[in-house]
Order: sequence, then C-alpha cells, then structure tokens
Amino acid sequence: MPGLIRALERALTADRVFGDAAGRTAYEFDASLAHGRPRAVVLPESAAEVCRVVGVAREFDLPVVPRGAGTGLSGGAIPSQGGIVVAFTRMDRILDVDRRDRRALVEPGVVNDHLTTAAAKHGLYYAPDPSSQRICTLGGNVAENSGGAHCLAHGTTTNYVLGLEVALAGSELVWLGSDAGDAAGYDLRGAMVGSEGTLGIVTKIALRLRRAPEAVRTLLAAFTGVRAAGEAVTEIIAAGILPVALELVDGMTARAVEEALHAGFPPDAGAVLLVEIEGVEDGLDAEMERIEAICAGSATTTRRAETESERAALWRGRKGARTVLGNLRPDYYVHDAVVPRSRLPDALEAIEVVAAKHQMLVATYLHAGDGNLHPNVLFDAADPAEFERAMQAGSEILHFCLDLGGVLSGEHGIGLEKRGYMDAVLAPADQAAMRSVGAAFDPQDRLNPGKIFADPPGG
Ligand code: LAC
Ligand code: ZN
Repeated sequence: MPGLIRALERALTADRVFGDAAGRTAYEFDASLAHGRPRAVVLPESAAEVCRVVGVAREFDLPVVPRGAGTGLSGGAIPSQGGIVVAFTRMDRILDVDRRDRRALVEPGVVNDHLTTAAAKHGLYYAPDPSSQRICTLGGNVAENSGGAHCLAHGTTTNYVLGLEVALAGSELVWLGSDAGDAAGYDLRGAMVGSEGTLGIVTKIALRLRRAPEAVRTLLAAFTGVRAAGEAVTEIIAAGILPVALELVDGMTARAVEEALHAGFPPDAGAVLLVEIEGVEDGLDAEMERIEAICAGSATTTRRAETESERAALWRGRKGARTVLGNLRPDYYVHDAVVPRSRLPDALEAIEVVAAKHQMLVATYLHAGDGNLHPNVLFDAADPAEFERAMQAGSEILHFCLDLGGVLSGEHGIGLEKRGYMDAVLAPADQAAMRSVGAAFDPQDRLNPGKIFADPPGG
C-alpha cells in the first residue's frame, strides 16, 4: 500500500515503524493458536502519537490492533484482518505511585509485576496477578479484564481500574472514570475494561493499589484425585473461609511442574491444592488450622510453606503450569470456562471422561475458588487428525461447562478463539445490544475488528 509507511513515519519517527516482513513477523502471534499478518507495526511513545496512528488508519481505511506483550490466550492481539498493530513496548512508564491515596498512574505498556515492584517501596502492591505477570502488560490486562491466582478475595482488573485515558476511533483523546471515585454519567470505564481493544485504545491507566498484608500463610494439600480436591474447595468456602487464593492443579500438571521447576509439589499426587490466607498476624494460624482440618479429611498430605522461599517456589510452580505443559506435547488449546463452584467436582470428572474418549492428554489447573477452570488439551499440531480431536475434545469440555451453568471466559477474554461460542451463551438480542455499544464507539469497525463476536452475526 503505497504511502502507508511514509504516513506512519510522519506520524511517529521512521525508526518506530516496521513495514518489512522481518520487522512484522514477531507481531503475527500471541500465546493462542491464532495468527495474522499486519501491514505495519508501530511503536508509539505518547497518546498523541497513538491518535495520529488512528488518523492514518482512517485515511488508509485499515484496522488498528493494540498489543501489549502478546501473552494473551484468546487471540485478542492478533491482526486477523491485517492493518496496523500498535505495540505499547515504548509506553512503559510508571508515571506516579501515590502512597497516601494508594493509587498509581501508568502507561499501558507497563509490565504487571513492575508496578508491584514499584509499589512495594511504599508498602503497597497491585493485586491482579495473572500467571504471566512477569511479562504481560497492564494495558493488555485492562483489555481482557485479566484475573489471577489472588483475585478470589481481591477481585479482577476491573475492580482496580479507577480511570482510563483512551484514544477513540475518531482520534479524540478522552478520560473515562475518575481517580477520585465515582465519575459522573455512564460508567464507560466499566465498559472499556474487558472490551478487548474494540471500543478504544487505552493510553493511560489510573489504578487502585492495596496495602501489603501484615502476614501470609500458604498451605499445600495433596489428594488422590481431582474430585477429592474439588470437594475440599467447596468445604473450605462452605465453612465461611475466604482465602486470598485457592488453586487446584491436577496430577499430570503437578508432575510436569515438579520435573521442570522443582516447586515442592508431590510428584505422585492425583491433585494438589494451594491455599493462601492473609491478614493481620493475630488469628491467622487458627484459620489455617481450620483449613488443614478440612483438607485432612481426604488429603494424603498437607504441608505449610515454612519460609518465604518455599512459598515463592509453590507459586512459581503454579504460575509456571501452562508453560511447562509444553514439555509434554508441542501444542495446547487452553480453555477458561467458569462453572458454579459447587459443580467443580462434576466438571473435573467430565474433563477426564472427555480426555479418555478422545484419547487426548488434558492437563487441568484452575482458580478453584472462582470456579475458573483451565483445561489444556495437549496435542501435536503437525498431526491434522490429532488437531481435529483436540478441537473436538475442547469443544465438548466447554459445552459441558456451559451446561453446568458456566460461562466462556473467566479472564482470558473471547478474542478470536471463543467467539464461535458466543451464541451458546448470549441471546441474539443481548449480542445486538453489545454490538450497538461497539458501533457507537467505532462506527467503521476499525478498532480490533473480528474480535469477541462472530462475523456475520450468528455465523
Ligand atoms: C493461569 C493462566 C493460564 O491461570 O490463566 O495460569
Ligand atoms: Zn488463569
């Protein structure tokens, strides 16, 4: 497309525009199975530059696809219809950490964990902790409304976004929400979080921080199988205890983790539960004893992390689960369904049944307290028949979860991968209402088109 690269170079500077194949390749993929080729990739350094890029996209009638670190699991950052990828690598400044009001102002390219590191100097931290927190960016977290192991008690990204600066499809720069509390008018801040880059391009984020807890206790409990572990989860919650994290890892995942990361997971366990509680020192041990007593009913072993490094190893194990599964098979198809917590044991058993039926390896780890499951169907994409079986097994698992009263995604978003399932969870009128919000923000469907909704409607 003659002139496109020159126009982008005028909007930014030449060294931050990639038009050649070599420069664009890294932006064709994310952590999902999807890929797509952009016409150009740009690395803006300011909101004004983002607005100018959107202007160039209008001039050349091209899509604009915002991108953080590319760790997304649903294809949200894939330029599936080509166009211009706006990568936020250079907009990675923490502009302010306000200790007294416990909030931060950041650019979207800030890595999630870097904010917690910066906040720690003030006795604060940023609670949503996706497993990819050492790489993923806060802009991407906003786009997908990311969660994480510690979101059970503390909530997901949307509970932490106070306000957003957003570049709209017409290149206007607006603030949605307010870092002082409630904003006047519609809650467009809420609409923007989780909209996967389809309503606007976030250029600044005001975030809520939490005070670091006085004390933490972490327990590992091993079980013979996932049903027993799932039942312990239900019992802990039914006893009126709300841990900050309640994570379950099946036996296959636990073994893969232990082999690769030496996290301290018993390699012969049928399932491993991690339970973390936090708060004031006083009373915390008594609460952990109650949890241990509940687990002891069916667990083969329980063990408290005695030191901070033991605790860190357990979390490194849990958060590394997805990546180590690559040691078992070359490819994976990861799901993100949420079922009512009481149905977890049924869902976990159904996953095993589907895996056996299709002769597939399915490794599952989950934010059990939230009922948010990640079954990973493992396969080798080089074998087309195995690929087909993997897709079929994944689809059956997902439909089973939906039939239990579940939803499609707890934290990874719909993106490209799950959009074909939207008809199973939302009525046509519900989807039409959402699309009309999209059309109001982006009448030409220029911002990350093809995501969330099947195209055409119902297709
Ligand atoms: C996790 C990611 C896959 O929970 O969401 O590890
Ligand atoms: Zn997760």
